[in-house]
Amino acid sequence: MCACVCKPQNEDLRTLGLSGHVGFDSLPDQLVNKSTSQGFCFNILCVGETGIGKSTLMDTIFNTKFESDPASHNEPGVKLKARSYELQESNVRLKLTIVDTVGFGDQINKDDSYKPIVEYIDAQFEAYLQEELKIRRSLYNYHDTRVHACLYFIAPTGHSLKSLDLVTMKKLDSKVNIIPIIAKADTIAKNELHKFKSKIMSELISNGVQIYQFPTDEETVAEINATMSVHLPFAVVGSTEEVKIGNKMAKARQYPWGVVQVENETHCDFVKLREMLIRVNMEDLREQTHTRHYELYRRCKLEEMGFKDTDPDSKPFSLQETYEAKRNEFLGELQRKEEEMRQMFVMRVKEKEAELKEAEKDLHEKFDHLKRTHQEEKKKLEDKKKEIEDEVNSFQKKKAATQLLQSQAQQAGSQQAKKDKDKKKAFPFLIHSKRWRSMFTL
Ligand code: GTP
Ligand code: MG
Repeated sequence: MCACVCKPQNEDLRTLGLSGHVGFDSLPDQLVNKSTSQGFCFNILCVGETGIGKSTLMDTIFNTKFESDPASHNEPGVKLKARSYELQESNVRLKLTIVDTVGFGDQINKDDSYKPIVEYIDAQFEAYLQEELKIRRSLYNYHDTRVHACLYFIAPTGHSLKSLDLVTMKKLDSKVNIIPIIAKADTIAKNELHKFKSKIMSELISNGVQIYQFPTDEETVAEINATMSVHLPFAVVGSTEEVKIGNKMAKARQYPWGVVQVENETHCDFVKLREMLIRVNMEDLREQTHTRHYELYRRCKLEEMGFKDTDPDSKPFSLQETYEAKRNEFLGELQRKEEEMRQMFVMRVKEKEAELKEAEKDLHEKFDHLKRTHQEEKKKLEDKKKEIEDEVNSFQKKKAATQLLQSQAQQAGSQQAKKDKDKKKAFPFLIHSKRWRSMFTL
């Protein structure tokens, strides 16, 4: 019987010796085998100005040629471009994602340059959180795109950090492991480089920028990490060109006055960076991303959603209780909104009713006015009609009288004519009586 199995957690554990080989010493191997078959993923974010040497450095570190198109200097804003690759070394498969900033530092107003970077990092955290919150999770084969390391490319000015560098690093330091590097270090003199490095470090400290600390808690890597930390920020040179040095080919940059060897530690810190980023601390970078940065994002997000671990009396608060509290809060809010909408509706109806009443009153007034005008017009017309009728009547009377007079005159005329005719017959010489009369009167 095993005595150490069912002990409560907070009681001291007894150490027991085994009398024979059991086999759980193969557990680390089992883990290694499982992880190896599953493959690993590692995501690097390169933040740096256009043309500072991001793509060349990535090609140099991974000893391959990744696809990359040089960015133009006239991008209206900063964009992020992610590309994923499957790499294999021995039997280890690595799903590598390289994210580049495009157009960083090219805008006149650089106030918002950090925003797309923060948004990208948060979007990857959010995607992971959503996967975690699913009922049917598939984290086992989930393509984790959370950024494990951010290489921050500092321009080799030999002077100091630019405010854009400080602002961006400050905004990123709680979200990602920042490793600052001085790019194109072959363009800066040795004594200047030393001063430049100290200046950068003191500026980072005085501005409270938290860069990635190489872990020194594990004894296998403590020493190397401690010595490497002193060389931060690494001054690197990138080149995929091979130059013959002695009887060997080596990656280097050739100048009229000499050759800068990328992997020569007296020439630059490229080897140190590769050591720290890939050969020693890759797993720690992955772990820090999950346990520190993602954890912080997750905590803030869940708190924002109303989840909490303890109630105000520091008693554990279950997910069910949180759900109920959130549901009640939501229902209350819904009811409040419903009531608000109802009142708004009643108010609107009243307003509309008053408007309609007003319109009805106006219409009545208009109708009365029209009716009055109509009656007045009608009366005027009737008066006019009566006047005309009177005129017609008097005209008729006059007409009748005239006709009577005319007929009388005609009768009188015809009698006179008869008389004259009779006279003519009796006195024909009187025909021209008028002429005769006038002749005699002459
Ligand atoms: P974008 O993607 O266009 O923003 O550029 P980048 O940051 O990826 O730079 P890239 O690697 O394309 O390099 C730009 C130029 O700088 C190329 O001509 C490189 O040969 C040169 N270059 C890259 N690394 C170094 C370096 O360490 N030293 C020097 N002197 N030149 C370098
Ligand atoms: Mg590039």
